[in-house]
Amino acid sequence: MQRLLKDRCAVSHAQRLAAQRIRTRKTVSQRQGVRCEVDGRWLLNFCSNDYLGLSQHPSVLAAFKEAACTGSGASHLVCGHTAEHVALEAALARWQQTSRAQLFSSGYVANLAVLQALLEKGDVCVQDKLNHASLIDGARLAGCTLKRYPHLDVEAAARQLRSGAEGATLLATDGVFSMDGDSAPLTALARLAREQAALLYVDDAHGAGVMGDAGRGSIAAAGLTEQDVQLRLITFGKALGGAGAAVVGDAELIEHLLQTARGGIYTTALPPTQAAATQAAIALIESDAGAALRVQLQANITRFTTGALQLGLALLPSTTAIQPVLVGSDEQALALSMALEQRGYWVAAIRPPTVPEGSARLRVTLSAAHTPAQIDGLLQALAEVHFCAY
Ligand SMILES: Cc1ncc(COP(=O)(O)O)c(C=O)c1O
Repeated sequence: MQRLLKDRCAVSHAQRLAAQRIRTRKTVSQRQGVRCEVDGRWLLNFCSNDYLGLSQHPSVLAAFKEAACTGSGASHLVCGHTAEHVALEAALARWQQTSRAQLFSSGYVANLAVLQALLEKGDVCVQDKLNHASLIDGARLAGCTLKRYPHLDVEAAARQLRSGAEGATLLATDGVFSMDGDSAPLTALARLAREQAALLYVDDAHGAGVMGDAGRGSIAAAGLTEQDVQLRLITFGKALGGAGAAVVGDAELIEHLLQTARGGIYTTALPPTQAAATQAAIALIESDAGAALRVQLQANITRFTTGALQLGLALLPSTTAIQPVLVGSDEQALALSMALEQRGYWVAAIRPPTVPEGSARLRVTLSAAHTPAQIDGLLQALAEVHFCAY
């Protein structure tokens, strides 16, 4: 039996090798803002989701250090629910203008937990084709019928919602799509969900902190509330600069998650240090300093897109901090990423199965912490490697 599994692993490894789809990890040994030492070389990081630079912000670091203990010691329902967690859930609900919040150890786990807790056989979960893997996996785990509509196609979503479920229907979408950087048509999806009496769940991993009034995210930016979007995911590993996640929204639904969501029940609570740091990050995001960081981020996005379009780079239609340069083949994307690295820029190549076949890309991400000169430097390097490659 063990041999069978090992043989299967070996075959799958050989296939990945042949297709140039081996994934490797680089080691970051030091970080100074967007500069980091990677495998012994200093690079400028243009592939992190730390959009506001909060992972190294002094007030966030201070809150982390001041928390009473590093480990929570148990799950939330046993004895791991500390004052830091209580304060963070309250801060999240207030910031997001929702009835309630519940913490999870990661966004991936939260999406599995929510869909598994809410859906069952006979229910239908309708999702955008480019939704994050955790939403797809969550629907599979729930045992419901999963229907995926073409990216951003509200009409197709409507047809799928209408095409009958014996049970409940849930419409799930990313707010900002992680590999394309574009935004879901939330106003139209909310209207559709209302008409079809479906629950709307928005994964706002890449919108929270950077979009909308007080950085509340893409739901607030679309002028929607808990009435329209009953549950939303906020992750702490991106603009909030830490790790972990929360689901916020309707109080009854959150109570159901607390009682039944296996991904919340059977796992150790987030470290209190992380809860304290996240609360400090939210305070910063809501402050004038947070607003200034968002203005800076927007200026950086505009500088990059303007320069990239002048260079004729194949950008996707994104106005967010995620600015993918479409390449096509895996080999070319890897070669370009490597050539950028030789020039001192870290831009990850994203290949299938993370993105559809034939759409490998350089996923450039901007941060408020980048300087204009650093962005211009990246554009210059992109121009050099791009014109060498084509
Ligand atoms: C859209 C989206 N949802 C969920 C996740 C998972 O969040 P986490 O990294 O906290 O597990 C990510 C990040 O990888 C993401 O991009």
